[in-house]
Amino acid sequence: MRLSIAAKINFFLLFIFSMVLVFSAAYQAVRERDLILTLIKEQSREQSEAYFDGLNMLMLTGKMDARDTLRNKFLEHAHVEDARIVRGEAVSKQFGPGRATEQSKDEFDELALAGKGSLEVVHDDMHSRLVVTRPLLAKKDFRGTDCTSCHLVPENTVLGAVRFDYSLDSLFTRVEQNILTSALILTSIFGMGLLLTLWVIRTWIVRPLNQLTRSMEEATDQHDFGHRLEGDDGDEIGRVALAYNQMLDSVERQLGKRPTAQGKQDKPQD
Ligand code: HEC
Repeated sequence: MRLSIAAKINFFLLFIFSMVLVFSAAYQAVRERDLILTLIKEQSREQSEAYFDGLNMLMLTGKMDARDTLRNKFLEHAHVEDARIVRGEAVSKQFGPGRATEQSKDEFDELALAGKGSLEVVHDDMHSRLVVTRPLLAKKDFRGTDCTSCHLVPENTVLGAVRFDYSLDSLFTRVEQNILTSALILTSIFGMGLLLTLWVIRTWIVRPLNQLTRSMEEATDQHDFGHRLEGDDGDEIGRVALAYNQMLDSVERQLGKRPTAQGKQDKPQD
């Protein structure tokens, strides 16, 4: 395959850059999703506690009829898709079945009523959500409240559960946008780097090499050994030019030939 040095180096740089881009994007995606989940799990812990504290206040003050207002307030919170209380059998037996939203609806509710809380990310089709349930047990002393004074059940009976569903879509979309932005920034930095590399290769490698080639061609085609190249021993190509000049000197001496009229000046040619 015939490719210039510049093209080869640029292909190589492009390869390295693509690897860096892919790995950094993947790493960023994993890290940011983790961070979001950690934060929203923390939020869910606080909100489910606050929801139950609010509800408990209503029980203690005999205002349980107003519990829909409490629920609506939590539904207004950011990323909350659904918030509700799942009513346990013990409560239904004593006080009636409650609202339609308070019935057990899926396996997470069932698990919660069996005393097992969940904290799980669920993906269905294009939609991701975090499901949080927290069972509510009848305690003799739940932050100073005796649940069994009103709920006539043995201690540790599951009275119900708090259930929150958080939508993760908008958060995950934001992660994707962040990754896209940083990919664009990386790409433009790389583009500038590539242009700079091209320029450096052209001025420091390609141009001096072209001069050498032209001078060699003139020497062989026209037997004109008078031209000398510009060069210093600062770098490898400069040293090649100096060695070439010395070679021409030596050729001229061996031929016993002084420079011809047309190529007389020892001035370096362009
Ligand atoms: C002052 C009495 C009282 C105390 C104390 C009390 N509750 Fe209740 N609780 C009620 C009443 C009354 C209801 C149901 C009202 C209705 O269905 O109209 C209720 C309902 C519930 C429900 C179902 C709520 C719903 O929306 O379906 C749960 C769960 C519950 N209580 C848990 C607890 C827990 C846990 C404690 C202890 C921290 C507790 N309660 C303490 C009176 C009380």
